[in-house]
Amino acid sequence: MSAAPKANPPIRTLLGPGPSPVSPRVLAALALPVVGHLDPKFLEIMDQSMAMLREVFQTKNRLALPMSGTGSAGMETCFVNLVEPGDAVLVGVNGVFGTRMVDVAQRCGAQVDTVEAEWGTALDAQKFKDALGKKQYKVAAVVHAETSTGVLQPLDDIAEMVRESGALLMVDTVTSLGGAPVRVDELGIDACYSGTQKCLGCPPGLSPVTFSERAVEVIRKRKTKVQSWYLDLSMIEKYWSSERIYHHTAPISMNYALHEALRIVLEEGLEKAWQRHRQVHETFVREMRKLELEPAVAESIRAPMINTVKVPEGVDDPKVRQRLYDDFDIEIGAGLGPLKGKTRR
Ligand SMILES: Cc1ncc(COP(=O)(O)O)c(C=O)c1O
Repeated sequence: MSAAPKANPPIRTLLGPGPSPVSPRVLAALALPVVGHLDPKFLEIMDQSMAMLREVFQTKNRLALPMSGTGSAGMETCFVNLVEPGDAVLVGVNGVFGTRMVDVAQRCGAQVDTVEAEWGTALDAQKFKDALGKKQYKVAAVVHAETSTGVLQPLDDIAEMVRESGALLMVDTVTSLGGAPVRVDELGIDACYSGTQKCLGCPPGLSPVTFSERAVEVIRKRKTKVQSWYLDLSMIEKYWSSERIYHHTAPISMNYALHEALRIVLEEGLEKAWQRHRQVHETFVREMRKLELEPAVAESIRAPMINTVKVPEGVDDPKVRQRLYDDFDIEIGAGLGPLKGKTRR
């Protein structure tokens, strides 16, 4: 077979739920010389990325590192390391990613219960409290910014209840990290994962995670081996700590990209980045209303970094999105699951 033509992707303006636009600085970092995964210069970059990740996650956790793989790898990392077969896990479900958490937890052999809310609304803290009162859960998990609906889940009450119950709190910050406070230490989050391709402005490919000492202790005391060799933190930690024991070949170029993306976030300043997302979101809503378009989520729980808009009655949404591609090189996202055809993101 002869070689296919050279890949020639268009330059799109990425206004959808992710991947988000990537800074030229990050693209340039991807083209830096590839060195070995145990090269002293690469090890320095790893240490710096860990330090910057702690800042962005707002934590002093020792364990903060980018897993190889996209956000879903971060989700699996949290579940496979913390959950052993038969463990009770509670998951908040109000969109695609809560649903995915349930699937992943079940594949770990967990007994999973859910607290559900209609897609496009937030989880009710009281329902969480009621569920936590019925059983001793090992892990309670929620999505901070539900990308499928545009809801930013208020975390304070739920975090307090989970802490009081003695369960470990797991939070998905794939879409929120860098775009809104995630307050890992303040909220007492034990396991938190994210992705590089949203508010960090990096291509998809790594999944930053952080674990509290309490969670690390739970992993240490496991009776069974972590069911995924690739995502086993007890081994990966030995590569990211001073031991530097090879586990798998780190995706060198993606690590350069994340390093540069984190530098950009911290140069701007976290608070300023959060404010920027909030201001742009408010402007977007104001301008959208002038076009007689309506936000799909109530104001108090709208995620500023993922705007969902109701598709007006009678409008052929796929046609509109195709036209944006064809005529303007703009990407936006469709509604998912029950919101398909009803919202755009
Ligand atoms: C909230 C949330 N969690 C998890 C994921 C999964 O991440 P990925 O698609 O990078 O594997 C996404 C992806 O968009 C997401 O938005």
